[in-house]
Amino acid sequence: MSIRSVHSVLRVAAPIVVGVHYAFGQSPLPIPPVLSGAQISLTLQEGAWEFHPGETVSTYGYNGDLLGPTIVLERGQEVTLNVTNTLPDLTTTHWHGLHVSPENDGGPHSLILPNTTWSPSFTVLDRASTYWYHPHGHGLTDYQVSMGAAGMIIVHDESEAALPLPRMYGVDDVPLIIQAKSIMDGQIMLHTGLDSVITVNGVARPVGQLPAQVVRFRCLNGASERTFLLGFTGDRPFHVIGTDGGLLDEPVQRTRLRLMPGERAELLVDLSGMEGSDFQLIAFNSELPNGIIGSPQVGNGMATLDGYDDNALNGADHAIVRFDVTEPTADAILAIPSTLLPLALLDASAATVVRTFNIAPQGTAPMEMIEGPFTMNDALMDMDVINETVELGATEIWVFENNSMVGHPIHIHDVQFNILERNGSTPEDWERGWKDVVYVPAMGSARVIMRFEDFADPEMPYMYHCHLLMHEDEGMMGQFLVVDPNGVNENTSASGPLLLWPNPWVAGDLWLDAQDDELASALITDATGREVLQVRVPVGSKRWNIHLPELAPGVYNLTTTGYHPRKAKLLIAAP
Ligand code: C2O
Ligand code: CU
Ligand code: CU
Repeated sequence: MSIRSVHSVLRVAAPIVVGVHYAFGQSPLPIPPVLSGAQISLTLQEGAWEFHPGETVSTYGYNGDLLGPTIVLERGQEVTLNVTNTLPDLTTTHWHGLHVSPENDGGPHSLILPNTTWSPSFTVLDRASTYWYHPHGHGLTDYQVSMGAAGMIIVHDESEAALPLPRMYGVDDVPLIIQAKSIMDGQIMLHTGLDSVITVNGVARPVGQLPAQVVRFRCLNGASERTFLLGFTGDRPFHVIGTDGGLLDEPVQRTRLRLMPGERAELLVDLSGMEGSDFQLIAFNSELPNGIIGSPQVGNGMATLDGYDDNALNGADHAIVRFDVTEPTADAILAIPSTLLPLALLDASAATVVRTFNIAPQGTAPMEMIEGPFTMNDALMDMDVINETVELGATEIWVFENNSMVGHPIHIHDVQFNILERNGSTPEDWERGWKDVVYVPAMGSARVIMRFEDFADPEMPYMYHCHLLMHEDEGMMGQFLVVDPNGVNENTSASGPLLLWPNPWVAGDLWLDAQDDELASALITDATGREVLQVRVPVGSKRWNIHLPELAPGVYNLTTTGYHPRKAKLLIAAP
């Protein structure tokens, strides 16, 4: 990644925390470069990175070795994002939090085959806020995000631009992508609670430089499962000005903020008069309520996650990044505004549908109460099953009831919602605005309200899922369609299923016919989900033939991408 160093630092601070002996290194806080405009190109590629000096590990990044550029968009603009996959693996890229049609959303059906480019194109409809992008292949998300594939999206709009807020990217408006990694034997490890490296913008324990004035942090928890209870040295107060999907109506003063995987928060900190001093952003995880991964305890004493108690970060306060305060800039923002933007929150009485989602372990062993896999309404994610169908224009309340011993951050695609209740009480002050991730406490519940305003599609679903990436990959996800009850769906050209012949197949070419639809690629997997063949189809083809290798007799799944994803069962007969 071409990184613009903010500062290089010559001093090593004393360790400040109990439990984990963290010293700050020499590494400056990197600021990801910006991409903006109507055409944005991202190349997902393999790379190499040193999280610890002298130890190089293999990584993934967009346009670089790790993470990706910050995409800056204006509300109302048109954008085409060309995402090229140079990984030796399937991927997708999801615009987390953006309100786009299901075709443009980059969910698990929008596979990008190796050495191909996916080019979604849409109008930016979102409020000014901080969003992000990351891979979202079914069963692949944790691996690819942990390897480093993720980046920030910043949307600006006219109402936000009219407010006296810090807006100098990397100077007084600072992206902080906070992640936790487990690195063992020179490799990024998955599915282990033994994550020990906390990174900001890809660097462990970095040191940044900030001017002595009001500074804005755009915090993103991009970790696979760790929650951070954020705060500053000396309980320095800060103001939350925005959550996942937009600004609040007024700044909310706090000294702590719980940020779960997938969540974003924008904070203002007043550094006036602090020139020459330094301070730290800290995860005060000794104070994090039990039941959340990162807190002192999960499993309520009954059982715990493998390695949980051995991980010195759990339940301990640990530093995230240190900042040295330097002289103020010209045109500095010197005061925290007293009001922001009016919040037109959704009214619970407007909801016509209430859906309940019961979260529970799939199995019955005590361990599974915290480890999973977790089901939602008794189902694990199935790419072929639509779990919910929503009518275009409906206002709905979704209730998540958690019958497991671990807290889950539940994310819904397509919409921004308001949180009505958590465990029967109104949520904390800072959570009253627009959200796309909600904390559902262990053995507790949360209710959210949203309106499905645009983008009916009779076939292509959106996702809702836990943003703990292992839970998501193991199937804690469901699919919903938004349909137009008057039958005027956005994509009426879609007609009929994918046709295959000869089927059963013995030898020779296999023909695909998507009827009125356009094909882009075809993927054949065996009954265990293992990939057998993937082919690229010339863009725009509606009918195509593929040369099959010799395959063991049996039932295979054939999936195509294109304007709509299509699926069919392929029978291979014995010769
Ligand atoms: Cu951030 Cu469905 O994902
Ligand atoms: Cu999302
Ligand atoms: Cu979960």
